[in-house]
Amino acid sequence: MKIVGGPASQLLASRTARALGTDSVLCEFNRFPDGELYLRIADETENEIVTLIQSTPTDSDLVSLLQLIDACEGAKKLNVVIPYMGYARQDKKFKPGEPISARAVARCINADRIFTVNIHEKSVLEHFPAPAENLDAAKLLGEYIAGFGLENPILVAPDAGAEGLVKNVSSGLGFDYDHLQKTRLSGDTVIIKTKNVDVTGRHVVLVDDMIATGGTMAESIRMLRDQGAVDVYLACVHPVLARNAVLRLFNAGVRDIISTDTLEKAESRLSVAPLIAEALKRL
Ligand code: R5P
Repeated sequence: MKIVGGPASQLLASRTARALGTDSVLCEFNRFPDGELYLRIADETENEIVTLIQSTPTDSDLVSLLQLIDACEGAKKLNVVIPYMGYARQDKKFKPGEPISARAVARCINADRIFTVNIHEKSVLEHFPAPAENLDAAKLLGEYIAGFGLENPILVAPDAGAEGLVKNVSSGLGFDYDHLQKTRLSGDTVIIKTKNVDVTGRHVVLVDDMIATGGTMAESIRMLRDQGAVDVYLACVHPVLARNAVLRLFNAGVRDIISTDTLEKAESRLSVAPLIAEALKRL
């Protein structure tokens, strides 16, 4: 199997290839003078089994993925791994006239098999034109958090939507877990209320699928610290960390931020490569 990493997932593709005992294929990424993207896979893919790995946090990354898929038209079998799928949060129409953007993107992915990692909304998988599987990084996150050696930590989801994730992260590790209640006021403003959580004197790890503007986590950190938490850590799968999110989080008093490498940032300290490699071995 040939592993091809797109521009947004070069490290993850290289790690996945290594986990499978191979090297990832070299690609060239460039731009034409007018700004359009140029890409070339510097290896033969004709009649080969090929796996593309490319997150799509930006529109350009999505175009790169479409170019990679097109470049592999002669492959015997094409698997596409989208570790972080942009637009996955736009999974329904909120107002008449809006597109279901997640569906619009999913419909363009022309492959034999598709994999995502902790996609924001699993119903999006049904929009892909080929069988699609969502891989769960919860166990990897849980093991990483356990390695902190925190005394009696409590894992907390900032909203009910992340309750399943925090439960899976805690699973088998014996951590207490709970969730808060979130009301979204705008794209980057939320109100957070407690549910039953008593964090007095405890180390708290807030767990969510992604941190985007940091609004959800910043409010949660403030509230938990006001309620007597000793330290608040953040753990997420996808470190979108848009605009000034990191500054907002540290100003709110976070102790540390950890995430996976579905997006390649300074905070991406644990790799989902073993998860992807295992899924590819099962094919
Ligand atoms: C939403 O339901 C997600 O799970 C995250 O809680 C949300 O995307 C985080 O966004 P932000 O960091 O902008 O508050």
